[in-house]
Amino acid sequence: MLHSKVIMKKHRKITLPCLPHTFCILLQLLFLVAKSSAKIPAIIVFGDSSVDAGNNNFIPTIARSNFEPYGRDFDGGKATGRFCNGKIPTDFISEAFGLKKYVPAYLDPKYNISDFAFGVSFASAATGYDNATSDVLSVIPLWRQLEYYRGYQKKLSTYLGETKANETIAEALHLMSLGTNDFLENYYTIPGRADRFTPQQYETFLASIAENFIKSLYGLGARKISLGGLPPMGCLPLERTTNVMGGNDCVARYNTISLEFNEKLKNLTTRLNQELPGIKLVFSNPYYIMLHIVKNPGLYGFESASVACCATGMFEMGYACSRGSMFSCSDASKYVFWDSFHPTERTNSIVASYVVEHVFTQFLK
Ligand SMILES: *[C@@H]1O[C@H](CO)[C@@H](O)[C@H](O)[C@H]1NC(C)=O
Ligand SMILES: *[C@@H]1O[C@H](CO)[C@@H](O)[C@H](O)[C@H]1NC(C)=O
Ligand SMILES: *[C@@H]1O[C@H](CO)[C@@H](O)[C@H](O)[C@H]1NC(C)=O
Ligand SMILES: *[C@@H]1O[C@H](CO)[C@@H](O)[C@H](O)[C@H]1NC(C)=O
Repeated sequence: MLHSKVIMKKHRKITLPCLPHTFCILLQLLFLVAKSSAKIPAIIVFGDSSVDAGNNNFIPTIARSNFEPYGRDFDGGKATGRFCNGKIPTDFISEAFGLKKYVPAYLDPKYNISDFAFGVSFASAATGYDNATSDVLSVIPLWRQLEYYRGYQKKLSTYLGETKANETIAEALHLMSLGTNDFLENYYTIPGRADRFTPQQYETFLASIAENFIKSLYGLGARKISLGGLPPMGCLPLERTTNVMGGNDCVARYNTISLEFNEKLKNLTTRLNQELPGIKLVFSNPYYIMLHIVKNPGLYGFESASVACCATGMFEMGYACSRGSMFSCSDASKYVFWDSFHPTERTNSIVASYVVEHVFTQFLK
């Protein structure tokens, strides 16, 4: 077994921000496994605020978080543009694969190709599969993230040489994490899409964009791809706050949409693995682990799952969750959610290690 061999070789202790009990041991074990097998040379990220490391700081949009109290538990208390008090899932995944501690934003001038060669995020908060979603707050649409990726490949070829760059692209883990905004920021909020599509037709429309995107990545040499599913969207504090009739419980119809859409993405994954030779496409589903945390916060050491840490925890995100906001909690690690739409660092760490353990281990073989 890979596990035991690695453990025998290396007894390095790695400390992580995680729970007491067995979960922590499991996580450290995974880190040991990952540190010793450099099968993944880089992590390449596409998506929305779940994985944006600060690209929106460099475009004209109000969908930003590069101010306090965002990042107050990040390395040095820096507000980087991550929608979190600390690290986002891709940072934990990068570390789990023995790469850098963070995956930097492509548009951030503090970084260059010598950093991006190990990991890069093209993600943009408030974007979606649908162009109409990225239009709402003028953020980076998915098709432009692909354009950036083409530019990145050119730079990588110059930096590493074409042979090594091609190898890196083929071995790198490409992560896609988006879709929530298509429903909550667009379909159910802005007039237009709901006149044209039923929710189920809209799911199919989005899945076809995901399919074309994966085929484009494949055409550009990517082989290891993770297609991220939706979390239980109805359990985001913002949705619970507005669910007054439902006693501020999770909004069932939004969770149903998440489940339906996830099933479509899962089926797409099965089909594309058959159609595209050499591809290793996985479906990473955060739904059940997130729902389990939200329904059983105490099991994970959390005190609250229904309201967020920042400000009143009921509505605020972005500029509404700012330094001036009173009431913010003092210890974010007791909360499942940081702002009304985004998990805390601790939740991100739990979900990331769950995905590494249950889905990404096959990339280490
Ligand atoms: C990247 O930036 C570092 C300093 O921040 C610099 O030393 C290095 O030469 C740069 N590399 C490239 C390839 O531009
Ligand atoms: C989104 O916009 C881009 C650029 O205009 C276009 O190429 C693409 O076809 C559009 N996608 C969809 C699904 O309409
Ligand atoms: C690198 O990949 C590109 C695109 O797939 C291909 O055209 C090129 O021949 C490859 N170069 C090397 C040196 O393998
Ligand atoms: C997904 O695939 C399963 C098994 O082939 C099938 O029963 C199901 O109807 C499919 N679901 C969707 C949403 O396409």
